Amino acid sequence: MIRRASAQKDTVAAFQPGEKLQIKGQVNIIGNSPAMQGVYKDIGRVADSNATVLIQGESGTGKDLVARAIHFNSCRGNKPFIKVNCTNLPDSLLESELFGYEKGAFTGAGNQKKGKFELAHQGTIFFDEIGEISLSTQAKLLRAIQEKEFDRVGGTSTIKVDVRILAATNRKLEQSVKEGEFRGDLFFRLNVVNIYIPPLRERKEDIEALVAFFLAKYNNEFNRQVKGFSPEATKLLMNYAWPGNVRELENLCERAIIMARGNIIVPEDLELSSGNKIQSLSSSNPSEQNLPLKQIVADVERQVILKALEENNWCRTTAAKVLGINRRSLYSKIKELGLE
Ligand SMILES: Nc1ncnc2c1ncn2[C@@H]1O[C@H](COP(=O)(O)OP(=O)(O)OP(=O)(O)O)[C@@H](O)[C@H]1O
Ligand SMILES: [Mg+2]
Repeated sequence: MIRRASAQKDTVAAFQPGEKLQIKGQVNIIGNSPAMQGVYKDIGRVADSNATVLIQGESGTGKDLVARAIHFNSCRGNKPFIKVNCTNLPDSLLESELFGYEKGAFTGAGNQKKGKFELAHQGTIFFDEIGEISLSTQAKLLRAIQEKEFDRVGGTSTIKVDVRILAATNRKLEQSVKEGEFRGDLFFRLNVVNIYIPPLRERKEDIEALVAFFLAKYNNEFNRQVKGFSPEATKLLMNYAWPGNVRELENLCERAIIMARGNIIVPEDLELSSGNKIQSLSSSNPSEQNLPLKQIVADVERQVILKALEENNWCRTTAAKVLGINRRSLYSKIKELGLE
């Protein structure tokens, strides 16, 4: 799943692909499907290089986990890991947030403040949801990433930092570049190495191990002894398209543990807990109608998203929560599926 933009010598894998990836820094990545083994190999290969990595994948596939895994398996692992959430980065805040400011630089700047670049010195800075930043912010970011030096707002001396750069997005950035929404030069700067995490519906072999992991986690958290899913409930999980990927599966396991009436989770528990019955494809299975996979997935997504919206009076914030995806992803799905 790795695509190198420039030839790069493989470094020794920091770990072997295994059933469970336990890394320093409490990073647990579960799943032993060939697709995830590919991701583990990628992490092992790039971790110890200083390469900039762009992590791509749908919402909830584990991009955050992979970024942390790269950092904690690198020689920078005991230095800071600083995450910048680009969805909360309006132009007006960008400079002070990233580069910091000097005392008195503007009204309210009572004390000197270090920016995220400075805080990440010798460690890693992770730009999450990089696809969301405006074009003018992209220009400022490009300069800082290229030069790795900047001035604090109101400062007179240039600060130079040693940081490793990671970025993640659930957008198809190549497409955004074509559409003029994302700068090509910034894209190439970030996309030195590309790690793609496939959606859960393309690696359903991982569901069993993920469910076991989340059941153990939430049994422990809620002091319950739920043993697992009944065969019928398991069938529902396996037939579902998981538009919210692993995050949605985790949310479902959490709710199911809270709502389960016995030690085994049955389909009724899933229906009750989520207020959104997980729809099995088996009743009128479109895959048996020889439809293209893309259309089957889009149909299922449409059904599930529409139901969540209708049941929540079209409140997108609540619907996004129920679906286990972020609001922005829900907005783009609504647009993409023509649900407005
Ligand atoms: N392979 C995995 N093993 C264990 N937990 C996982 C795995 N993938 C995702 N998760 C869990 O699912 C949730 C979502 O993961 P994460 O935040 O890394 O996804 P993301 O791709 O960054 O999503 P978004 O695009 O919405 O930010 C987290 O609670 C994470 O711990
Ligand atoms: Mg994320």
